Parts: sequence; C-alpha cells; structure tokens
Amino acid sequence: MTSLSETILILTLFLLSGFSLAKQSNELEIKALRSFKNGIPSDPLGALADWTTTGLVRHCNWTGITCDHTGHVVSLSFKEKQLQGVLSPAIANLTYLQVLDLTSNNFTGQIPAEIGKLTELNKIVLGLYNNLLKGEIPAEIGNCTSLIQLELYGNQLTGRIPTELGNLDKLESLRLYKNKLSSPIPSSMFRLTQLTNLGLSGNQLVGPIPEEIGSLKSLRVLTLHSNNLTGELPQSITNLRNLTAITMGTFQCTTIFLPDQYLLA
Ligand SMILES: *[C@@H]1O[C@H](CO)[C@@H](O)[C@H](O)[C@H]1NC(C)=O
Ligand SMILES: *[C@@H]1O[C@H](CO)[C@@H](O)[C@H](O)[C@H]1NC(C)=O
Ligand SMILES: *[C@@H]1O[C@H](CO)[C@@H](O)[C@H](O)[C@H]1NC(C)=O
Ligand SMILES: *[C@@H]1O[C@H](CO)[C@@H](O)[C@H](O)[C@H]1NC(C)=O
Ligand SMILES: *[C@@H]1O[C@H](CO)[C@@H](O)[C@H](O)[C@H]1NC(C)=O
Ligand SMILES: *[C@@H]1O[C@H](CO)[C@@H](O)[C@H](O)[C@H]1NC(C)=O
Repeated sequence: MTSLSETILILTLFLLSGFSLAKQSNELEIKALRSFKNGIPSDPLGALADWTTTGLVRHCNWTGITCDHTGHVVSLSFKEKQLQGVLSPAIANLTYLQVLDLTSNNFTGQIPAEIGKLTELNKIVLGLYNNLLKGEIPAEIGNCTSLIQLELYGNQLTGRIPTELGNLDKLESLRLYKNKLSSPIPSSMFRLTQLTNLGLSGNQLVGPIPEEIGSLKSLRVLTLHSNNLTGELPQSITNLRNLTAITMGTFQCTTIFLPDQYLLA
C-alpha cells in the first residue's frame, strides 16, 4: 500500500468510528429522554406529544429540546406545562446538558443525586408553583461546577443546605426560598463571591447569620426573612456595596428592609 492510500484508509476508519461514537451517544441521550418522559404519567397539555420515534421528527426537534450542531441535547426546558411526575435519574445520561428548566410544573419525588454527573449544566430551575419536590438537596449538585444559576425555590425540600454547594464557584444566583430547609447556613457558602442573588427566606434555617456574609461582595439581593435564624445582622454587611435589597426577621415577602446606611447612601 502506498502511504497515501494508507493515510486515506486510516482517515476513513477514524471518521467512521467518530460517526458511530456520535451516533451511539445520541442513542444514549434518546434513551434518557424516553426515561424522562416515562417518569411523567400526566401531561394534560400534550407538551410531550411529539416525543415519538415513529414519526419523522428527530429528537432534536421534539418540544422542549435544544441540541447543539452535533445533535447532543443541551437544553431541556418545560415551563408551566402542568407536567406531573418524577424527575428520572436517567437525565444523568444527557451528558451535554447545559440547561434544565422545569419551572412551575407538578413534579413530585426527589431530586435525583445522579444530576451531579452533569458537569456542563449551567442552569437548573426546578422552582415554584406546583412543583412539590421533597427530600434533601443532593450533595452531588456540588459536582455541577459549571452552574451559574440554581433555583430550587417553592418546593418541600427538607434537611440541610449541602456544604458542597460551596464548590459552585461560578454561581451567581442561588434561590432556595420557600422550602423546609432546617440547617445552619453553611460557611462554605461564603466562598461564592460571584453570587448576586441569595434567596434563603421562608425556610427553618437555624443559627446566627455569620460575619463572613460580608465576603459575598457581589450580592445585590439577599433574603433571609421567615426563618429560625438568631441574632443580629452582622456589621460586615456594610461591605456589600452593591446590595439593593435585603430582608430579614419575620417580615413577609413584600417587606423590604433597607439598613440606614443604604437609605442614606
Ligand atoms: C426540524 O425542524 C425544523 C424547523 O422546524 C425543520 O426545518 C427540519 O426539517 C426539522 N427536521 C426534522 C428532521 O424533522
Ligand atoms: C398541577 O397543579 C395545579 C395546581 O395545584 C392543578 O390545578 C393542576 O390540575 C395540576 N395538574 C396536574 C396534571 O396534576
Ligand atoms: C445511563 O445509560 C446506561 C446505558 O444505557 C444505563 O446503564 C444507566 O443506567 C443510565 N444511567 C441512569 C442514571 O439511568
Ligand atoms: C459527587 O459528589 C459526591 C458527594 O459530594 C461525591 O461523593 C462523589 O464522589 C462525586 N462524584 C463525582 C463523579 O465527582
Ligand atoms: C422553627 O420555628 C418553628 C416555630 O417556632 C418551630 O415549629 C420549628 O420546629 C423550628 N424549626 C427548627 C428547625 O428549629
Ligand atoms: C458592583 O456593581 C458594579 C456596577 O454594576 C459592577 O461594575 C461591580 O463589578 C460590582 N461589584 C462587585 C464586587 O460585584
């Protein structure tokens, strides 16, 4: 064989194996999407009606799905679709997923720990209205180190705020309000210097508000009201130059408490 035909052969084999790898991985993702659908027995608005492999529509064209140019699923997004069911652990096989947005559906059950395998995720929204997720926030979410936004508000989550969330150093928005979380605020949280929005109100968080809160220099909005927190707002809060809204004590959501220095500023 001449070296040219060898090169062509090797190149061809390389390309073929590349294609078949891509195809396998797409099939794994389609399988994961089917498991996601199987977790949802009730879909009164028919949001998942076109999720069928018998039709002509490829999975990238299914409602709620966005793929990248290689056909990998990068976004799974259903807002206010009344989907009722559980979140399948199989979503862990959507390796390329960047956005998981299930705002205002009727999900129940736990947040699967397998979500921690999704290291490309930059946005998780599982918040509000009728989502009734329960159990603990899986510590494994601390492995999703690309996360910029983590929104788990308005569920029935119990137990602690995982220390591991302190690993999410790109996090800009962390909203856990209106759950039943009952731990102290972990000190690891104060490493999250990119945080602009920290919503912890409406839980049963205990202990003092730590002095280190002053290290969250990017904070704009901080809500702590309606918890079982003790003590005063630490002096270090005056370091937070960009803070525009802060709530604490037993105020209702609509009450915004601005310390004097902000009213004077
Ligand atoms: C996917 O949808 C786009 C736009 O709606 C359409 O142009 C394209 O033909 C569809 N592809 C498949 C495989 O269904
Ligand atoms: C979802 O919850 C809302 C409000 O509780 C309710 O009106 C609706 O029927 C629920 N949908 C399903 C499919 O259970
Ligand atoms: C991911 O896919 C593999 C291969 O099909 C399967 O064995 C595994 O259970 C899946 N993972 C989850 C969390 O479902
Ligand atoms: C993910 O996080 C858990 C708990 O924090 C840890 O035990 C596990 O080893 C991590 N997994 C990976 C793949 O990093
Ligand atoms: C928070 O306070 C409420 C009302 O006083 C009480 O019922 C609840 O047990 C407290 N929770 C914790 C975790 O201390
Ligand atoms: C505060 O806000 C200003 C204006 O938006 C911004 O340029 C600056 O980087 C912020 N400071 C911090 C510490 O985030």
